Amino acid sequence: MSTIFNKALDRIGSYQGHFINGAWRDGTDDTIPVVDPATEQVIGAIAAGGAAEVDEAVNAARKAFECRAWSAMPAAERERLLLCLADMVEAEQDEIAAIETIDNGIPYGVSRRMAVGSAISAIRYHAGWPRRLTGESVPVSVPGNWHGYTTHDPLGAAALIVPWNAPFPITCTKVSAALAAGCTVVLKPAELAPMSGLRLAELVAKAGFPAGVMNVVTGLGAQAGAALVEHAGVDKISFTGSTATGKDILRRSVDSLKRVSLELGGKSASIVFADADLAKAIPGVAMGIFGNSGQVCAAGSRLFLHEVIFDKFIEGLVAFTQKLTVGPGMQDNVALGPLISAPQRDKVMGYIEAGLKQGATLITGGDAPSGKGYFVNPTIFVDTNPGMTIVREEIFGPVLSVMTFNDDSIDDLAARANDSIYGLSAYVWTSSLANAHAMARKLRSGSIKINGAGMEFALPFGGFRQSGMGREHGRHGVEAFTETKAVMMGW
Ligand code: NAI
Ligand code: MG
Repeated sequence: MSTIFNKALDRIGSYQGHFINGAWRDGTDDTIPVVDPATEQVIGAIAAGGAAEVDEAVNAARKAFECRAWSAMPAAERERLLLCLADMVEAEQDEIAAIETIDNGIPYGVSRRMAVGSAISAIRYHAGWPRRLTGESVPVSVPGNWHGYTTHDPLGAAALIVPWNAPFPITCTKVSAALAAGCTVVLKPAELAPMSGLRLAELVAKAGFPAGVMNVVTGLGAQAGAALVEHAGVDKISFTGSTATGKDILRRSVDSLKRVSLELGGKSASIVFADADLAKAIPGVAMGIFGNSGQVCAAGSRLFLHEVIFDKFIEGLVAFTQKLTVGPGMQDNVALGPLISAPQRDKVMGYIEAGLKQGATLITGGDAPSGKGYFVNPTIFVDTNPGMTIVREEIFGPVLSVMTFNDDSIDDLAARANDSIYGLSAYVWTSSLANAHAMARKLRSGSIKINGAGMEFALPFGGFRQSGMGREHGRHGVEAFTETKAVMMGW
């Protein structure tokens, strides 16, 4: 094993407690083992925090908010600190990428290029916002001399609850957006992949952010997570994860009317027209579902393929898919790592069985490699229909369901793509401007990508329907950590 993985393992082994008010605080004897999903080996442990640790962390965040050590710092200084944090993450990118590979399974090359790379982009993007978070000057019509204007005031102490599928980029996005808005934060990393969040806390302290501005409590969702959701000192919850947990959080935040942003599941459609550039669409569709082994909220898990190109496209798709090497993320040339856990692997295998039982035709994959690690081979089903479980439910694994269209009108095609309780993303492949514009207008999802994929932090991201509430990224994502204030000043 190379030096960088040894270094990452040492770092993982060094974490024992929570990060509260600028210092490490020991946990109790109650710990949660942390597992490398490629080897099934225990590689460390985190403290199982509960109400007591959450209370300390929220109080630290509240104090840091109320003394205005952060929100009243000159905007240029807040920008400088965020840029400094991004530079520190960049300087440590090899080690952080290795931590993420060991903890979550993501192949090292992908981890460096995409996971850590996009985390750095997110921080740098948000660093520009403290100086640009402007309100409006509004003409006032009531009699008298008035100056009417708005400001975006930080909401206060924000609870950031993060999932395990892309821990570092999601953590960095939420932390930097909240800080850019002037909030202070308590982060609750996912118990299945908590380590890179702890690494970020160390760098936040090293960069020189005031104590209490960022706190981390580790633990189980039902304990640490639930305690955060119910804490009266939390003003805002920003959650990414399953739709079921998102609904539970929303229900439990009603009494205090906490502000809640939810980024939840999806069953996103990829639509390939007959006029698409197949050389781009084939790898695009494949990586849109198989990237990160399908553990992506925006995964394009339903493919609508024009009948005229069906044979050619499927031939290319299967060939591309079979070339994707599945294996431990530490090995060179691995494209797809393991799923996060045994239950997640079993859940995905259960969906594959359901697909077979309900009459879908398996054309590649469908199996899990034997030996250690929670691997599932990339799987493609054809002859699927909207009555099938694999077409309706979020699988969160490398399973693609293919359907066809022919002379459907654009309206019918859009209606088929929109036939889901979710509405997070949609992907359209076409060389026709008319098809592209018509689909962009008719698809009911938060993001529409035409002829490509990729994450752009300047564009808002979030879901229609049960894919969530609110938006991250862009101005919307920063404003989600603020309350709008209206000032009417007579003179
Ligand atoms: P989850 O949504 O329960 O966990 C995500 C985060 O929420 C974790 O940090 C967890 O500790 C926390 N959490 C859990 N219960 C909580 C509660 N009652 N209060 C506050 N925080 C809580 O997801 P989980 O259980 O890890 O995975 C279940 C399924 O959800 C997966 O099999 C997958 O299909 C789906 N999922 C979807 C994601 C997406 O982005 N669409 C992300 C993660 C999971
Ligand atoms: Mg793990």
